[in-house]
Amino acid sequence: MEENNVKKGKSKKKLERTLLTGFQPTGIITLGNYLGTVQNCLKYQDSFNSIFFIADLHSLTVRRDPKELNKASMSFYAQLLACGITPQLKELETADSKKISKTLLFFQSHVPQVSELQWILNCYAAIGELERMTQFKDKSAKHEDNINMGLLDYPVLMASDILAYQTDLVPVGVDQKQHLELTRDLAIRFNHIYGDIFRVPEPIIAKSGAKIYSLQDPTAKMSKSDPNPNATISIIDSEQDIVKKFKRAVTDSGSEIVMREDKPGISNLITIYSCITGKTVEDVEKEFAGSGYGNFKVQVGEAVAAKFKPIREEVERLLTDETYLETLAKESAKVARRIAKKTLDNVQKKVGLVKF
Ligand code: TRP
Repeated sequence: MEENNVKKGKSKKKLERTLLTGFQPTGIITLGNYLGTVQNCLKYQDSFNSIFFIADLHSLTVRRDPKELNKASMSFYAQLLACGITPQLKELETADSKKISKTLLFFQSHVPQVSELQWILNCYAAIGELERMTQFKDKSAKHEDNINMGLLDYPVLMASDILAYQTDLVPVGVDQKQHLELTRDLAIRFNHIYGDIFRVPEPIIAKSGAKIYSLQDPTAKMSKSDPNPNATISIIDSEQDIVKKFKRAVTDSGSEIVMREDKPGISNLITIYSCITGKTVEDVEKEFAGSGYGNFKVQVGEAVAAKFKPIREEVERLLTDETYLETLAKESAKVARRIAKKTLDNVQKKVGLVKF
């Protein structure tokens, strides 16, 4: 499903639909994540019942230092909040008095019903289909010393996340598309045997999800695992660091500021500036016609720094208020457990488990 399909249909119907996505707690939200994923989620939360969570269980498939994981999970939660993801635990009536939207933001591991559902779904997933998943093959190759069951079972946990909450829509990047296909297959298979149990989710493939490249190698995607700190911008970098990194950004030969295939460095900076300011690429090219690379790099850096400053300050503030974060996460999880329990109870009954 293309993103613009989402906009079709009567708004009331649209608002009743549930959208879900999980975030691996990787420590920092990069500029790439922000423009590619987080900004889309901000849009979605205005239109759908939105379920967002920190996929802490998924992140156990790769060895992490427990203290680091714990801290990263909490920090990621605060970063998402600071970006503008706002849990709404009650159905809200907004200004135009028709919109009803609800947003949850919690930790995956706080909803044990999802893990219970995973066990049942495991019994309907074929080992062969899991072994065929591209991500399983890639991760097995990358972590040869730790090819654990979790790595193989990763997509079934994802399916449980999606199906437990009766999700309609899942925004997916290319790397998760195959997992969503599997989720659909499992749902259809299960429904075929037991009746209408699961809603079969549709993917939302963002139409123009901005792809942001490394500032040091504009042919490689911006990645938080990049060993060169100058390659990646994070939403919690200081203003000085952000401007400095943009000043050092690798550019191309020539001096023209235009979006062109043989100018990956400048094109990347144009994309970033355009996404941050909301200006079109043509307007950006016009604005900087004849300006030279040096000035352009500073302008882009300053625009990004100005955008992220309030977010960074809010993250810092939130992290000093653990009680607030805890309350929000707990209350969100409570609602999530209620939704997931309904599905789980039904599934348990349908497969023949004794329920009193
Ligand atoms: N696996 C996803 C990722 O690595 C995170 C995730 C977990 C997820 N459960 C999900 C995404 C359910 C969408 C739906 O990014």
